[in-house]
Amino acid sequence: MTLAEIENGRVASLAEIAAATGDEIETLRVKYVGRNGSIPALIKAMKDVPKEERPAFGKAVQAWKAQVEAALAAKGAGGAAEKRVEADLTLPGNWREPGVEHPLSRVIKDTARIFGHLGFTVADGPELENRFNNFTALNTPAHHPSMDRSDTFWFGDDCLLRTQTSPVQIRTMMTNKPPVRVICPGRTFRRDTTDATHSANFHQIEGLYVDTKPVSLADLKSVLSYFAREMMGDGVTVRFRPHFFPFTEPSVEVDFTCHVCKGKGCRVCKDSGWIEVAGAGMVDPRVFGFVGYDADEVSGYAFGFGVERVAMIKYGIPDIRWLYENDVRFLSQFA
Ligand code: DAH
Repeated sequence: MTLAEIENGRVASLAEIAAATGDEIETLRVKYVGRNGSIPALIKAMKDVPKEERPAFGKAVQAWKAQVEAALAAKGAGGAAEKRVEADLTLPGNWREPGVEHPLSRVIKDTARIFGHLGFTVADGPELENRFNNFTALNTPAHHPSMDRSDTFWFGDDCLLRTQTSPVQIRTMMTNKPPVRVICPGRTFRRDTTDATHSANFHQIEGLYVDTKPVSLADLKSVLSYFAREMMGDGVTVRFRPHFFPFTEPSVEVDFTCHVCKGKGCRVCKDSGWIEVAGAGMVDPRVFGFVGYDADEVSGYAFGFGVERVAMIKYGIPDIRWLYENDVRFLSQFA
C-alpha cells in the first residue's frame, strides 16, 4: 500500500458517500468504517509498514477516517440502535410490569395517613421482645394463658416474638413524656395453626393517646369512628361492646358494620351484620405505674387492630393465606 493509494481511496470513498442515498449510506458506513471495514483493516496493517514511513501513513489513514465519518454523519448515518428504530417502529420497547402495593402495605399506609390528620405519628419497636414489655408492663398476670409455650414463641425465659404490638406502647411511654399520640404498625407472632382466618405471623396496628388533660372514652369512640369512615367509607357504623383486656379499664371490642351485606346479615359476618375489628379501652392506671407516669396526672386511651382483618373486610378477601402467597393473579387486582 502506498500513500497515493490511500489518497485515491479517500477521494473515491468521499465521492461514493456524497452520491449515496437511503440504505446505501449504511452499506458504505459498514464498508469503510464498520468493524471489518477497509479503514480499520488499514489501521491493523500499519504494523507491517516500515517504521520510518509509519507516521505519514498513520496521519493519512486517520485523516481519511475522520473525513469519512464526518461525511457519513452529514448524511444522517446513525448508530445501530437508531438504524433499527428507523427500520421497524413497531418493535416492542423494554416493557417492565409495574409492581403494585400489597393490600397489607396499603392498609398500613392509609392508617398512618388517617391518624396523621389527627396528629398521630408512627412509632416502631422490635419483633423480638422481652417479658416485661410484652406482658408484665401491660398488666398481664404472671400465669396468664397467653404466656403459655403453646401460645407464644419463647426463646428462653425472657425473650419472645411479640404476640401483639402493645409493647410499643410501653417503649413509647418509657422514652417520651406525655402528651403521646402514636400508632405502631408491625408484625406479630402467635402459635396459631394456619387456616382461612389464622396465621402464626400477622400484623397489628396499635394506637396510644395519653395527655395531661383529661381523656375520655368519648374521645376514643370519636377517633375510631372517624377512622372507620375514612377507611371503609361513609356507610360504615361502629359499635363498642364491653370486654376485658389486662391493660385497659374499661375495655371494649370494636365492631364495624359488615361491608358485604351493609349490616343486614350474610355469610361473611355469620349473619350478625357486624365484624369485630379492634380491641380498645382507657389505659389502666397500673400500666402508667409500670412506665413511670403519674396515674393521677395523666389519662389516655389505647387500641389495637389486625391489619389482615381490615384488609380482608375492606377488599372482600375470604382467606388470610391469599395475603402471603404472592400469587400474581391475586396481587394484580390491587393495581
Ligand atoms: N393487644 C390486643 C390483642 O392483641 C389488642 C388490644 C386491645 C390493643 C386493647 C390495645 C387495647 O391497645 O387497648 O388482642
